[in-house]
Amino acid sequence: MKNETPLLTKILEYIQRGITGFHTPGHQQGKGCGDKFRGLMQANSLQMDLTELPGLDNLKAAEGCIAESQRLAAQLFGAEKTHYLVNGSTVGIQAALLAINKPGEKVIIARNSHVSVVNGLVLSGGIPVLAPVEIENEWGFPLGISIENLRSVLKSNSEAAAVLLTNPEYRGTGIDIALAIKLIAESNHPLIVDEAHGTHLYFQEDIPLSAQKHTPDIVVHSAHKTLAALTQASMLHVNNKKWSNSIQFALDILQTTSPSYLLMASLDSVQEQMRVKGKEMVSKVIEIAQYFRKEIGQISGYRVYETDEKKGWYQDKTKVLVSAADLGLTGWELASLLLDRYGIAVEMSDYFYVLFIFHFGHDHKDVNKTIKAFIDIRQYNKMNALKPLDCAVFLFKQNYQPFISPREVFNSPKEFIPLKQAKDRIAGVALVTYPPGVPFVWPGDILRQEHLDYFEETKQTQIKIQGISASGMVSVITKG
Ligand SMILES: Cc1ncc(COP(=O)(O)O)c(C=O)c1O
Repeated sequence: MKNETPLLTKILEYIQRGITGFHTPGHQQGKGCGDKFRGLMQANSLQMDLTELPGLDNLKAAEGCIAESQRLAAQLFGAEKTHYLVNGSTVGIQAALLAINKPGEKVIIARNSHVSVVNGLVLSGGIPVLAPVEIENEWGFPLGISIENLRSVLKSNSEAAAVLLTNPEYRGTGIDIALAIKLIAESNHPLIVDEAHGTHLYFQEDIPLSAQKHTPDIVVHSAHKTLAALTQASMLHVNNKKWSNSIQFALDILQTTSPSYLLMASLDSVQEQMRVKGKEMVSKVIEIAQYFRKEIGQISGYRVYETDEKKGWYQDKTKVLVSAADLGLTGWELASLLLDRYGIAVEMSDYFYVLFIFHFGHDHKDVNKTIKAFIDIRQYNKMNALKPLDCAVFLFKQNYQPFISPREVFNSPKEFIPLKQAKDRIAGVALVTYPPGVPFVWPGDILRQEHLDYFEETKQTQIKIQGISASGMVSVITKG
C-alpha cells in the first residue's frame, strides 16, 4: 500500500528504535528540556501552536510577553538587546551582514565559514576577504583562523567594513576569543561572531571560547544546537547600540510574519533554565564528556582528539572526536557499527573520526552503554591502520579569493554544465561539504583542476557535496 505520510512514518520508526543520540538538537528528544516546557509540550503541544492573539505578543513589534522574554534573555547573556530567531543562526548571520555590511564593502571572513555567510553576502552585496584557516592534517578538519592569521589579515585589510568570525568551529575547536576580540577592537572593525556552536560556553569559565562573555558587536547563537531549545530556535545578541535599528530592520525583512510560538516558547524556557541552573548543568555535561573522553582514550585501538593549548587552540569539552583509525576503521564505518549494532547515533562521521556531542539529557548510563560498544567494536579490527586522506584537508588549503562577489554571481546569467568541463569557469553556486555546511568553492571562485580532482576522489568516500547534481552538473556563470 502507498505510504501517504512518508516523513511521519520514518520519524515514528526512528523513535521506536530507542536510539541513544549524541547529536543536535541539544534537548535530546526532550530529556534536556526545562521541566515546565517539557510538561506543557507533553500535555498541550498542539494547543501551544498559537499566533499573535489577544494577550500574546508579536515578534515583529514585541511589547508584551515576547519582549519581556527577550529582555530576560538579554539580561542573562549580558547583551544590550536579544532577538529571538525562528530560522536558526542562518537568519541571524544574514541579518547581521545585511545590517552592518553595505554593497561593495569588504568583510573579513575565515575560509571555514558556514554557507549562511555566503548567502548573507548575496543580501548585503559585500565583498568577502577570505582569511586562511589552520588545518588539523591527520584528523582532516580545519581548526579555525589562528591569531597570527587574524592579525595579518586585519593589517592588510584595514579598510574592511567588518569582520565575521566563526568560533568555535563545528567540531568544537577555536582560538582564545577574548584575544581575537581585543585585536579586532584595536583595529576598529565591527565584529560579528558566529557562535552557533557555542551558546553553552557562556556558562563555564575554564575554556576561553565564549565570545558573548566579551560582548563584541553582534553574536549569533543556535540555542537549539547546544542548549535545550527546539530545532531552528536561536538568538541574536546586539551588544553595541549602534546596530540596534539596522538589526531590527534586517530581521523584520528576513524573519517570517508567522513565527512559531513553539520555537519562541522553547527559547523562553531556555532563558529561564540557564538562568536558574545553567552553570551547574553545563559543568555536569562537561564532567560526563570528560569521563567518556578518558575511558575511550584508555581502550586500545581508539584515539580521542585533544587540541594543543600551547599553540593557542582550545576545545569545547562537550564535543568529543573519536578515531578508530588504528583499527583500520573509517569514521563512516565506526558510525555505522555504532548505529546498526548498538543503537548509538553520533553527530557526524568523517573519514578519520566520529563526533559525539554531549548535552543536558545525557547520563552515565548512555556513556557506559557507548563505552561497552567501543570495547566490543574492537572485534572488527582490520589489522591495518588507516592513512590520512589527502582530500579531507584539501578544501581548507585553498587561499585564493573569489573572483567576483556573491551578489554579482547571484545576479549573473548562469548555465549548468558537467563539472568535468567546468575547469577555469566561474562557479555560479557554492559547493558545500555537508555536514557541516562549509563551502570549499565560493560562488565567484574559479573552478580549478584541483576542484575537479577533489570531486572525483570524494566519489570513493562518503563525503557529501551540495551544489553538484547527481548527474555531475554544476552551475557556472555564462561566458561573454
Ligand atoms: C558554523 C555554523 N554557523 C551557522 C550555522 C547555521 O545555524 P542554524 O542551523 O541554527 O541555522 C551552522 C549550522 O550548522 C554552523 O555550523
